[in-house]
Amino acid sequence: MASTSPVHVPDALIAALRQAKLVTVLTGAGISAESGIPTFRDSQTGLWAKYDPHELATPEAFLRSPGLVMEWYRWRRMLVGKAEPNPGHAALAEMERRLPNFTLITQNVDGLHVRAGSRNIIELHGSLQRLRCSGANPSGEKRITSTCGYTTDEWQDGELLHCPRCGALLRPDVVWFGEVLKASTLEAALRSSRECNLFLSIGTSGVVEPAASLPYEALRAGAVMVEINPNPTPLSVHSHFLFQQPAGQVLPTIVQAVWG
Ligand code: OAD
Repeated sequence: MASTSPVHVPDALIAALRQAKLVTVLTGAGISAESGIPTFRDSQTGLWAKYDPHELATPEAFLRSPGLVMEWYRWRRMLVGKAEPNPGHAALAEMERRLPNFTLITQNVDGLHVRAGSRNIIELHGSLQRLRCSGANPSGEKRITSTCGYTTDEWQDGELLHCPRCGALLRPDVVWFGEVLKASTLEAALRSSRECNLFLSIGTSGVVEPAASLPYEALRAGAVMVEINPNPTPLSVHSHFLFQQPAGQVLPTIVQAVWG
């Protein structure tokens, strides 16, 4: 349950943030919950509670029913388009302006960090804002051949969209179940986790790999660990600073305490 009790920022955390040369943040769906975007796993509101992910967020589902999958993503894009970044997103953008070296790794595909002003972002699971060539033959042949690599951020109308370069079906540029992350993206996320002095894990249940391993990479390399999540996660017991409150309350209070 989200707590509304006042946020207390310990002096030791204020000092750690003032001294940190490299700060890395990992966010999950919880950072956007206060913008009205459903998380994946929270009961009642979670996205996967309403829809079977294997019906919609897999390459097989796309090959089986590309129209249905694209319709679901159009709906998610519409939800995200109506949402606004919240004070948690804004506080992270402010942290980036204040800190010499700041990397934001997000599992979210909603683009709200970009809209809030964050710049150095690793979008681990892609972005709903982009489409890319799937390599899937639109003629009904149910297999993915090789993709030509085309990407665009122009979502046009129409049930099925086709690659202007090779004619294959376009798909959302997101990572689906059963797919591997782009190697260069994962490598960048691992590097910034291993190199940072302070790591903040915010609004993620920490159960989906490889994102779930990033805080442990940081811990192994000696980083100070901060978790912000109203609910306990496997990382909670390993965190040096634990805020069991909503990110939209905690993050602005931390920014105010350190730089206000
Ligand atoms: P989850 O839905 O698994 O977890 C959301 C977390 O946010 C939970 O731990 C909540 O307790 C927490 N939370 C809820 N409200 C919050 C708030 N106001 N402030 C802070 N935390 C809050 O979402 P993720 O961990 O992001 O992957 O899920 C990881 C991945 O699983 C997603 O990126 C997606 C999904 O499968 C793909 O689609 C590849």
